[in-house]
Amino acid sequence: MASSLRLLLPLFFSCIILLNHLVKCNGADEEDTLFQGINSYRASALNLTALTKNDNAECLADGIADQFKNQPCTNTTGSNTVPGTEPQLANFPKLLTKCHLNVSNTRDGVIMPACIPNLDPDLVLTNFTKSQYSMNLNQTNFTGIGIGSKDNWIVVILTTSTAEGSYVPAQSTDSAGDSASSVSKSKISLIQYLLCLLMGFVFHL
Ligand SMILES: *[C@@H]1O[C@H](CO)[C@@H](O)[C@H](O)[C@H]1NC(C)=O
Ligand SMILES: *[C@@H]1O[C@H](CO)[C@@H](O)[C@H](O)[C@H]1NC(C)=O
Ligand SMILES: *[C@@H]1O[C@H](CO)[C@@H](O)[C@H](O)[C@H]1NC(C)=O
Ligand SMILES: *[C@@H]1O[C@H](CO)[C@@H](O)[C@H](O)[C@H]1NC(C)=O
Ligand SMILES: *[C@@H]1O[C@H](CO)[C@@H](O)[C@H](O)[C@H]1NC(C)=O
Ligand SMILES: *[C@@H]1O[C@H](CO)[C@@H](O)[C@H](O)[C@H]1NC(C)=O
Repeated sequence: MASSLRLLLPLFFSCIILLNHLVKCNGADEEDTLFQGINSYRASALNLTALTKNDNAECLADGIADQFKNQPCTNTTGSNTVPGTEPQLANFPKLLTKCHLNVSNTRDGVIMPACIPNLDPDLVLTNFTKSQYSMNLNQTNFTGIGIGSKDNWIVVILTTSTAEGSYVPAQSTDSAGDSASSVSKSKISLIQYLLCLLMGFVFHL
């Protein structure tokens, strides 16, 4: 009994580290830090209300970040982007569909991509609060936010409370609101978790 415990305990901890690492790989940490950073910027600098998370916008932001991931950071990408020269996304309509969105309910939202090497948390926040993007963050019109990231890219989408920028389909149902990204994230964690359980079981024998 005691000896099998001695075997299982390190395994248990390595599983926790593995899961933790997996979450970090998804960029979820950076996304959450930026979410809190943007809301405290709005509260302290501007006395504006906090933005609430929008699942569909987050799904779209994840999809866009995924498209950008192979482009290196340059002085013309990210928040340095000269308006109008942003890389065009060929499969944008497809991404919208995947996230239960269409052009009518996203028109008034804004999409803000930024490329920051290793998503350095301090640089990530200032790239949104101290760039031309601050103009959008300063607006009272925006009420919701979705953040997605992949490799060096992080994408912030702001949504409005009006139908044209709500990022919410007219006949929204709760089941459709579940973003594809959060589903896949929890799926990966579940597989890892089961794998860890299996490993623990095998070692126990
Ligand atoms: C911040 O806004 C709230 C309500 O919008 C208001 O009651 C409060 O006085 C404002 N505070 C400052 C410092 O402007
Ligand atoms: C970007 O960098 C290149 C070379 O470093 C430079 O020639 C160019 O002027 C820069 N562009 C901008 C918009 O700063
Ligand atoms: C934005 O990030 C870049 C790195 O991609 C950095 O060089 C730049 O200083 C940052 N800008 C701001 C305003 O933080
Ligand atoms: C947004 O608000 C901050 C704080 O008041 C200000 O420093 C910044 O210049 C504003 N940005 C724009 C683009 O107006
Ligand atoms: C924000 O609202 C004001 C007035 O309600 C409107 O004039 C302005 O165009 C809106 N801005 C955006 C970015 O939707
Ligand atoms: C977008 O979806 C809404 C319902 O969610 C629908 O009423 C509208 O016609 C759609 N617009 C387009 C351009 O497909």
